[in-house]
Amino acid sequence: MSRTVDQWLESGAAKLREVAERPRREAEILLGHILKCDQLYLIVHLDEEVEAEGYMALVQRRALNEPIEYITQSVSFFSQEFYISPGALIPRPETELLIEKLLEKIDPLSTESFVEVGVGSGVISIVLAQHLNNASFIATDISADAIAIAKKNIEFKGVSERIALVKTDLLEGIEQKIDILVSNPPYIANEVMLESNLDYEPQNALFGGEVGDEILQRLIDEAFERNVRILACEMGYDQKEKILAYCSDKKVKSLEFYSDYAGHDRGFIMEL
Ligand SMILES: C[S@@+](CC[C@H](N)C(=O)[O-])C[C@H]1O[C@@H](n2cnc3c(N)ncnc32)[C@H](O)[C@@H]1O
Repeated sequence: MSRTVDQWLESGAAKLREVAERPRREAEILLGHILKCDQLYLIVHLDEEVEAEGYMALVQRRALNEPIEYITQSVSFFSQEFYISPGALIPRPETELLIEKLLEKIDPLSTESFVEVGVGSGVISIVLAQHLNNASFIATDISADAIAIAKKNIEFKGVSERIALVKTDLLEGIEQKIDILVSNPPYIANEVMLESNLDYEPQNALFGGEVGDEILQRLIDEAFERNVRILACEMGYDQKEKILAYCSDKKVKSLEFYSDYAGHDRGFIMEL
């Protein structure tokens, strides 16, 4: 069926009003995905008649609250596009802060060895590797699906030689010296009810245990046992006090917490 670009966008946006904050923008993303063009092209060609087979099916998926990133298999992070699919968590904007805060502590010429736990789609290790040309990286995940998605992104970004992927529980089997340990682990308590769009994401990427901070505590223990120099983690907005209490009898050089864009506590950088 042929309609103008504007008509397609209007009928798509009308169906997305319930689920999307910016329905017209999301309709543009979906139509652009089908027509293989960008938003600017659509805006300039609003009166052009186009065939858009499959577009309304994508709109329907989005209307059922499926995240737009899974539908288009693309996510923007650190001003770059990455491949994403339902086997891995959709990277969140606040995770860019974890990278920025960690990079502030690292010499750009660093030759240190980094390990990321819970690599997911690979974005953290990839962006760090792009900024730290001399550093080496091992990235682990317990999920084979996540490892496969990270592998695609690592190859796509041309950093395969710098990032080794290992499917394992936390750091099991990693014997190498670790200078910097970084993680955005699952940190939500198991019984917390989440918004329905989160049903589409892998649950082992979200839930960290009965209390929520179990994996964070395991990471802190590992960091001390392995003489790590820096541990950098994202955490839940209500976990700062628990982390402080957990570390109260441990000798740390510094422990700095940072907030996300909404002003909530969101992570910490610990120098051991
Ligand atoms: C919150 S997601 C973070 C993904 C990605 N690093 C990001 O920031 O977008 C947490 C990741 O940890 C992985 N994970 C959960 N438990 C794990 C464990 N015990 N060992 C290793 N990885 C684990 C999940 O599969 C998921 O990919």
